[in-house]
Amino acid sequence: MKRVIVLGATGSIGVQALKVIAASPDLYVAGLSCDRSVALLLEQAISLRVNDVAVADERAAATIPGALYPELSVRAGSGAAARLVREVDADLVLNAIVGFAGLESTLAALECGRALALANKESLVCAGSLVTELAARQGVEILPVDSEHSALYQLVGAAGPRAVDSLVITASGGPFRGWDPARLTAVTREQALAHPTWSMGEKITIDSATLMNKGLEVIEAHHLFGLAYDRIEVVVHPQSLVHALVRMVDGALLAHLGVADMRVPIAYALHHPERATVAVERLDLSGGISLDFAAPDEETFPAIGLARAAGAKGDAATCALNAANEVAVRSFLKGDLPFLGISQVVRKIVEASEAGSFGTYAEAVAVDEQARGAAVAVCVEVANARMDCSD
Ligand SMILES: NC(=O)c1ccc[n+]([C@@H]2O[C@H](COP(=O)([O-])OP(=O)(O)OC[C@H]3O[C@@H](n4cnc5c(N)ncnc54)[C@H](OP(=O)(O)O)[C@@H]3O)[C@@H](O)[C@H]2O)c1
Repeated sequence: MKRVIVLGATGSIGVQALKVIAASPDLYVAGLSCDRSVALLLEQAISLRVNDVAVADERAAATIPGALYPELSVRAGSGAAARLVREVDADLVLNAIVGFAGLESTLAALECGRALALANKESLVCAGSLVTELAARQGVEILPVDSEHSALYQLVGAAGPRAVDSLVITASGGPFRGWDPARLTAVTREQALAHPTWSMGEKITIDSATLMNKGLEVIEAHHLFGLAYDRIEVVVHPQSLVHALVRMVDGALLAHLGVADMRVPIAYALHHPERATVAVERLDLSGGISLDFAAPDEETFPAIGLARAAGAKGDAATCALNAANEVAVRSFLKGDLPFLGISQVVRKIVEASEAGSFGTYAEAVAVDEQARGAAVAVCVEVANARMDCSD
């Protein structure tokens, strides 16, 4: 039995991971975490007989009845998930927390030498060098959960790294594929949250609509596979059947195909190095399938270029990019910032960001906090500029 701690258990990836675990006789949940969705977390803990949980939001944690069941141990507050990782015995940690908030737990898992299934791509975007160097020192392999990176991991592993020329990440193109900037000015929250192929948490769904998700994935791939940014390509593939491709040095192109269902990469990471049966729809080739590929429209959707520009500066800039994006996405979801304002805010913060890297978590926190503060001010500027234009 593999004992698994599921962080971000109440989110889209977390809930699907618990389904994968429930369907497997080889996997067992040793700990669960959430931010504030305590009702769902307790339901999960009771049904899976989990005694150790972490709740980041202290007020939400305080609503948990003390005498719910005697074995229940609740860690509360910021840093609770990382404490859970350090204190509870486990073979593998699945980190499905969203945003910079997941970084501390990634580092805790690696420090403890626990296998790490990483959905929280922001850990690599914010502190890629810190994370990968720690993983190498600890002899821990990071198992990507992102469908594109899971596909790349399998393809690169099969080919051997020396045979790889470059990586190709596919993008659905999001709900606004083919739209021009004029149409995008009036995009609503509901339109941006209606992703054509994937059902995901709100933040990553907006990132998919702006194409920032692909920008973050390019940075993630750079750190996971150690390839220069000019060897990582993005192509739009609206069917979302090909999750990634690898160009070989001899001109061959390997592709990874399957239906769009996150339980596949989640199960791959949880069962690694074995493969287990997963009850998902099979891709039916007999009826004929269409596979279209096109270059992304980087003029209308500048996020991939912004991610590459930040990547060229180093971890401090990619950390700042992530902070600006988190602030801008939240502001858009609250109705304060127009859709196109998200990339405007990120651009200003990336342009102002310092080149260079950092060697500690505390330094990453400092860069994140500074960029968040600056991004809040830029959000107000961008939102006010829109109001001036519409006067
Ligand atoms: N969804 C997908 O299909 C998908 C695919 C590839 C990669 N990913 C990546 O996986 C991660 C999770 O995505 P998701 O779509 O599952 O997100 P989600 O549905 O928004 O869930 C996020 C989870 O993190 C918890 N959380 C939020 N803020 C937190 C904080 N400050 N401290 C501790 N926990 C916190 C949430 O708890 P509450 O429920 O209490 O808010 C929830 O359990 C992201 O990094 C995303 O980029 C997701």
